[in-house]
Amino acid sequence: MKQIIIQYGGTGDLFRKKLIPAYINLLKKGHDFHLIALGRRYTEASQFMNEIIPTISEQFQNHVSYLHYDMKDPQSVIDLTQEINDRLGDECETELIYYIALQPSLYELAIKQIHDVNEGVRCSISKKIVVEKPFGFNSESAKIYNGILTSVFSDEEIYRVDHYLGKEFMQNLLIMRFHNDIIRGIWNNRFIDNIQIIFDETLGVEQRLGFYEKIGVVRDTVQNHILQIITHLTMAEPSEFSPEEISHEKIRVLKAIRPIKDFSLSRYETLSKLQGDEVRTSTYTALKFYVDTFEFAGVPIYVRTGKMQNEARSQIYVNFRNTMDRVLGDQQIAANSVIITTNPEMTIDITLNMKRPNSKWKAEPVRFNFNHADTFNVNTPEAYEQIVEKILEGDKSLFPSFEEIEEAWRIVTPTLSGNVVETYPDHTRPKTADDLIESDGRSWNA
Ligand code: BG6
Repeated sequence: MKQIIIQYGGTGDLFRKKLIPAYINLLKKGHDFHLIALGRRYTEASQFMNEIIPTISEQFQNHVSYLHYDMKDPQSVIDLTQEINDRLGDECETELIYYIALQPSLYELAIKQIHDVNEGVRCSISKKIVVEKPFGFNSESAKIYNGILTSVFSDEEIYRVDHYLGKEFMQNLLIMRFHNDIIRGIWNNRFIDNIQIIFDETLGVEQRLGFYEKIGVVRDTVQNHILQIITHLTMAEPSEFSPEEISHEKIRVLKAIRPIKDFSLSRYETLSKLQGDEVRTSTYTALKFYVDTFEFAGVPIYVRTGKMQNEARSQIYVNFRNTMDRVLGDQQIAANSVIITTNPEMTIDITLNMKRPNSKWKAEPVRFNFNHADTFNVNTPEAYEQIVEKILEGDKSLFPSFEEIEEAWRIVTPTLSGNVVETYPDHTRPKTADDLIESDGRSWNA
C-alpha cells in the first residue's frame, strides 16, 4: 500500500537532524513512501529544497515535497487537503501518516487541523498519527491531549514516540537480563546496592531554545527517556516479548515508583547571556528514584543528566553489594559492577576482581568487555530509523502506551514546580548533583 507521511515541523531541528537520515535509509532499504514537509519558515518549496534537502540524496529528493503551512491561517488546512487529494489521484489504497514534531503547546491545534484535513480527504483511507515527546506538559495536559487524540484516532492508530525505545541498548537490556541465568539470579535488591544513570551532554540548548525554554530538562529527557531506561532495568520478565506484555510489566514498575522527593535543578551560566532576556529554564538535573517492587525496594537509583558538560557520557552503572572487604582482612576489595555504555559506542563491561601480577594475593578490579560493533560486526540502525520503520510497518512494539506516559508524569510532578537552585559554569558539573549522592555517603562512579 502507498504511504504518505505528512510532517508537521518539517523545517525543525528534529526533522533535519534525525528524521531525514532515517527516511533516506528507509528508502534505500526498499520502503516506498512520499513525504510532505509542512513548515512556516519557507514560503517557496524551492527554498526548502535548497536549504534543507540540498544534495544529500537524489532518491530522497524524489520522495519529498514541501508545503508552506501556517497553523494560524485556516487556508493552510485547505491547501494541505488539496495537496493530499492531488497526490491520491484515484489511488484510495493509501495510508496517511501524520507526524507531529512540534512544541506540545501546538499539539491541540495541530490535531484539530488534522481532523479537518482528514474529513476533506477524498476517500476514506487508513491513517496513523505520530506524536513526539514530551506528551503534554504535565499530567493534566497529557490527559487533555490524549482525549483530543483519541476523539479523532483509535489507540491502534496512535504512535507516541520516545526514540530511546528504538535504541539497541534498550532492547539489549531485556535480553541481557532475561536470557542469562547468572544475571537473572543477582538482578535484585539482595545483590544490587545502587544504580547510577549518567547522561551528560556537551552541547547546550543551541537553536532549540524556543522549544527547550518552555520544557526544561525534566520534561525533555527524564519524564520519558530516563524513566523508560529505569523500567528496562527493573521490570519483571514479561510472559512474552510482545508490546502488550512488555508494556504491562513496565506499568507495574512505574506504578511502584514513588513521586520524586530528592532532586536538584540547575542551569548553565551562558544560557541567559545568549538570549539577552533572562531564561529561567533548567538544563541539568540530579534525582533519586525508588522502585518499590518486591525485587527492587530499597535500591536507590541516582540519575544525573543535562547539557553543557565537559564530557559526553551515557552510562548506566549497576553497582553490586560489597560483602567481601572484611572477609579478606587487610585488603580492599572493589565491589562488582555492570557498566552499560551507550555513547560513543555500545559496550557492556562487568568488573571482576583478579590477582594483580607479581603481588602476594592482591586483587585488582578488571573489566570484562563486550563491544557491540566488534562482536556483531553490523551497523546498528539509528534509533529513529527503527522507530520510523516500525511506524511504516504498523508494529507498536517500540512505543510507550498512554498509561506509561501518565504514570511517568505522576512520578516527575514534584519536580515540575521546582526552582533552579544553581547556575553552573559551562562545562562543569553542578555542585548540587554531587551533593545529592554524597548526602547518602556515596559518590558518582564517573
Ligand atoms: C531528545 C532531547 O529527546 O534526546 C534532547 O530532546 C537530547 O535534548 C536527546 O539531547 C538525546 O538523545 P540521544 O539519542 O542523542 O541520546
